[in-house]
Amino acid sequence: MRPMNPLHTNLLVTGGAGFIGANFVRAHLESSPTSRVVVLDALTYAGNLANLEGLDANRCDFVRGDIRDTPLVCELLRRHHFRALVHFAAESHVDRSILGPDLFVETNIVGTHSLLKAARLVWIEEEPGAHRFHHVSTDEVYGSLELSAPAFSELSPVRPNSPYAASKAASDHLVRAYHETFGLDAIITNCSNNYGPYQLPEKLVPLLIVNCLLGERLPLYGDGLHVRDWLHVQDHCHAISLALASGTAGETYNIGGENERTSLEILRLIVSEIDHAFEREPLLASKYPNCPSASGRSCAELVAFVRDRPGADRRYALDISKARRELGYAPRAVAGRAFEAAFRETVRWYLTHDAWWKSVIGGQYREWVALNYENR
Ligand code: NAD
Ligand code: TYD
Repeated sequence: MRPMNPLHTNLLVTGGAGFIGANFVRAHLESSPTSRVVVLDALTYAGNLANLEGLDANRCDFVRGDIRDTPLVCELLRRHHFRALVHFAAESHVDRSILGPDLFVETNIVGTHSLLKAARLVWIEEEPGAHRFHHVSTDEVYGSLELSAPAFSELSPVRPNSPYAASKAASDHLVRAYHETFGLDAIITNCSNNYGPYQLPEKLVPLLIVNCLLGERLPLYGDGLHVRDWLHVQDHCHAISLALASGTAGETYNIGGENERTSLEILRLIVSEIDHAFEREPLLASKYPNCPSASGRSCAELVAFVRDRPGADRRYALDISKARRELGYAPRAVAGRAFEAAFRETVRWYLTHDAWWKSVIGGQYREWVALNYENR
């Protein structure tokens, strides 16, 4: 396969209306002014066109469709002559996979296989040439780490514990198999927990921020001491661009933020930032009257330790030396300043984008929250 630089060409982005996909589309169009993107997204509960608002329609096309619709994917590949496909579309929430695993098998395994079949047919059989299939995956495929154990490398055994993680691991295996068996130019990145703008408030960080502002309880699972490696979404998107441009076909790269924090530490950062923001800006009290900080109290009073997930993973951590060495990746968003500064910026994004998050926490979301937290 000859070298390629998909950064300057057309991309198909699946799941581009979700959290990371939308951040990637935005970053890609900004950093690569001659490129175009087609987003293929089914707009499930997690997809939101508002995440793509403001982008130039001449450079970002949106197609509402399902990745399991192989003929549709083939048609898009034929029509647009993409050089690369970046695959974000997935069911992505562990709690939902515990309540209903079937959809995770359908979307994450069958859906990824549908994309692989389309890529094989069009890119290998019909129009051979330089094409790249980039599969976005998770550190959760490696399972849980002891507190003192070294971080996961790309050679760590795959031992997923949740249905979500198992479905992502299965999709990773399929991608690798299509490379080995059919010669598809495919790479996989396994990243850690992302935070940043446009994340649906069902994941820890935006859920805690939004609940503080609404004066609702802050549920911490178990003892709140589960450790995650927190990665700014911009760093993740940058790593994907690097891997697209210079990753080796058939390889897997771990992308982490080198920021291990417990859920309790994350909660404390959020509470402290919100309490201080209300002290500095009196207008916030009228905007969010139910927030304890609006009446001079602390959001800490909302903390509630609740029953843990069954099979909860204690710790994830990623060794990113391969991505550093081979892609030139480093977690830049926090480089040169404390993680806390980058994290506070994210908290402030939610403080000032209440129209965005209020639009996504409507009826269906409320039903889900009630179901997820009812027995905890
Ligand atoms: P998300 O849940 O915010 O977005 C998923 C997107 O996929 C949504 O826009 C949804 O509409 C779309 N989608 C779902 N099913 C689809 C289907 N059948 N056809 C087409 N579109 C469909 O997810 P995210 O947090 O942005 O995660 C993106 C990817 O990154 C996922 O593959 C996830 O496994 C992986 N990942 C996420 C994190 C994280 O911290 N968020 C960490 C590691 C890996
Ligand atoms: P989450 O954001 O769902 O990501 P993941 O499970 O994929 O790592 O959860 C991150 C951590 O936060 C995890 O240990 C579970 C915990 N958590 C809570 O304590 N309370 C919550 O309400 C949620 C959603 C998660």
